[in-house]
Amino acid sequence: MSTQNGFAPGLEGIVAAETQLSHVDGLKGELVIAGFPLAKLAANAAFEETVFLLWHGRLPTKTELNDLKNELAALRPLPTATLNLLRAAAPAQTTPMDALRMASATLDLGSSKGDHLNTAKMIIARIATIVASYHRLRQGEELIAPDPNLSHAANFLYMLTGSPPSDARVRGLETYLNTVVDHGLNASTFAARVIIATQSDLVSAVTGAIGALKGPLHGGAPGPALDTVFEIGSADRAEAVLQAKLDAGERLMGFGHRVYKVRDPRAEVLSAAAEKMYRADGDMALYDLAKTVEETAVRLLAIHKPGRNLQTNVEFYTALLLHGLGLETDIFTPTFAIGRTAGWLAHCFEQIKYGRLIRPQSRYIGKMDNEWTPLAER
Ligand code: ACO
Repeated sequence: MSTQNGFAPGLEGIVAAETQLSHVDGLKGELVIAGFPLAKLAANAAFEETVFLLWHGRLPTKTELNDLKNELAALRPLPTATLNLLRAAAPAQTTPMDALRMASATLDLGSSKGDHLNTAKMIIARIATIVASYHRLRQGEELIAPDPNLSHAANFLYMLTGSPPSDARVRGLETYLNTVVDHGLNASTFAARVIIATQSDLVSAVTGAIGALKGPLHGGAPGPALDTVFEIGSADRAEAVLQAKLDAGERLMGFGHRVYKVRDPRAEVLSAAAEKMYRADGDMALYDLAKTVEETAVRLLAIHKPGRNLQTNVEFYTALLLHGLGLETDIFTPTFAIGRTAGWLAHCFEQIKYGRLIRPQSRYIGKMDNEWTPLAER
């Protein structure tokens, strides 16, 4: 949809912020994170390095990186009230994304009011603890205390299982978290900026962003994308199953993007990371099946919606990579939130500096001269 008389229904093409955090070129299929081409940053940086880069605009020195790692590690334990909430949410069958949204709102309980940077560190550290802890509770398992000697990514995997993860798995998760850390003015980032622009607070901004990320048109697609691969089961069924979905008017999860009209560069990075991991220690047959599903889906979508350029998006290979890391489908989107929280907070810092309330307009299309009917006469 395009702008009509100053009205852009999905705000397409409207520039509502200037940012130094990421540059998305949807026609070339390029993503630059704080000056680094995605492929260079994602596969090399520790997640904490990426956090520092987004928050300070440069890479950390060795000492700065160690300091940040230690600070985040010390902030991991959750307030008792947050844990109690998670313990109550599990038997009520609350989904992990809803539990994350509820729990994130309690994050500043018990922590003294610090400056924005300290609050941001606390949020980053604890979001991962919430996701891992809630997963354990849902499985009916005891909680595992965070290990301050492990990195952010390694500790998250450790808190899910209780076993120290292999280096290959930690690298796989770091690559994923770096890949999804920021992406222009996407829906959840916009939500965070709108909230912080009112001079609200970082916990509110992140909680609102989590609510926006949850929807299947944004971060909620990787679970269903993997379900489709499993439903297809073997390469010879790909065409029939996908065609039936399109005939039934369903959207193929993991394909199409508001901005990218070529293959999402994040799909490229995650597909390479997934291939590496599956080759080293995984089910290569599943990786090969996913490749066939991808090729078939892109081919069928070109016929189904000619001229729309519906290509693979980040979610398709997110699903495969996170599955290869041993994560259950229902924590794919919460794990996305662990990475994107760093971007949300960085955008909040930019918005705070910019200091302008975000307040677009609506065009009234309702009636103007209704007659008032008293209640008794309706
Ligand atoms: N499968 C089938 N048809 C599709 C798909 C798809 N995956 N994506 C778009 N279309 C169709 C739409 O039905 C629409 O058809 P129409 O014009 O006849 O109504 C046309 O292609 C254009 O779609 P829009 O909805 O205008 O595209 P938009 O830019 O609004 O949507 C979106 C992008 C929401 C991502 C869409 O492609 C989609 O629903 N994809 C599946 C869900 C998904 O993978 N979400 C994750 C996105 S990545 C992220 O946010 C992290």
